[in-house]
Amino acid sequence: EDLTALTTLRLPARATARRDAADLPALREALLFARESGLPVIVLGAGSNVVFAGDVEALVLRYTATGREVLAEDAESVTLRVAAGEGWHALVRWCLAQGYYGLENLALIPGTVGAAPIQNIGAYGVELAPFVETVHAVCIEDGRELALHRAACDFGYRDSVFKGRLRDAVIITAVDIRLRRTAAPVITYPALREALAASTAPPDPRAVFDAVVALRQARLPDPAITPNAGSFFKNPVVDTATAEALARRYPSMPQFVTDGGRKLAAGWLIEHCGWRGVAGDGVAVHPGHALVLVNRDGDGLALLALAERIRTSVAETFGCQLEIEPRVYGAAP
Ligand code: EPU
Repeated sequence: EDLTALTTLRLPARATARRDAADLPALREALLFARESGLPVIVLGAGSNVVFAGDVEALVLRYTATGREVLAEDAESVTLRVAAGEGWHALVRWCLAQGYYGLENLALIPGTVGAAPIQNIGAYGVELAPFVETVHAVCIEDGRELALHRAACDFGYRDSVFKGRLRDAVIITAVDIRLRRTAAPVITYPALREALAASTAPPDPRAVFDAVVALRQARLPDPAITPNAGSFFKNPVVDTATAEALARRYPSMPQFVTDGGRKLAAGWLIEHCGWRGVAGDGVAVHPGHALVLVNRDGDGLALLALAERIRTSVAETFGCQLEIEPRVYGAAP
């Protein structure tokens, strides 16, 4: 089964088998098939955070159920149950139209609702984690249903229990999220604050949404046109002493205070090593944003080789290790 069209990087790869399941019975049926065939399961959403470095001996499975349901609503808040197969951006847009606030900063993030908790999607000063009430999932091993409350999800920066203890163990089927009925725009992120400073009115959720969409469209390549997986590396977190030493040496280096130290901008580090726009072997560093790697007509191995050269060069120049952000399949460990 050809996987090229299933990921936004559109890297050439094949899988032993592939299924889409639109409801729980179909999902259990597919899991049974995998067990009987002795195939491991690879779960895909919209394929916007995945690298296929080569072919995989596996069942590639998508849970495509859709639906949004209001579980509870009062004057202050609303709790929604959203099926995993819903598109993330469509949900953000719909919530804004309903007057359910909080997700505006997360506009235009590619991918599905089911994938969102896995890496705790975040952008422009907001993360998904505080909005999550419960994540519903099914165990790959035995089809059992599971519900994890927010605290059990171990959310961190681009991290959760689904990348740790439950990695490859569950398929997320729905997410319960709680949003506000009153606007409380978050405009702490410098680029967003600057973008909104030009507007005369105080920013409302619609203005924040529009500004985030404009910022993303200006800098990030549209995966529908230019194959990419968003940020290819996580922003590294270093301790305060290391950050201060770097700031003395590189006064223009952006740094963000975070739990346990300071977060550096991997895009800035990569650009300052001269990688922005570098291309070869069918893959490239996006000319508009050095944190994004794009596929022209290359393959996963070429992309990972480029990533490795970038990691080495950033480590040599700044002494910090970049970690690949998307999930890699089909590569020798
Ligand atoms: N920068 C450069 N050169 C570059 C890219 C960035 O100098 O080529 C500088 C920018 O000028 C800015 C700083 O680095 O001062 C940060 O850049 P930006 O605001 O674009 O954000 P980022 O840290 O590169 C992170 C997320 C993005 C998210 C933005 C906005 C990660 C790994 N990435 O990127 O998420 O949209 O913040 O909040 O945390 C994604 O995960 O796929 C993604 C796009």
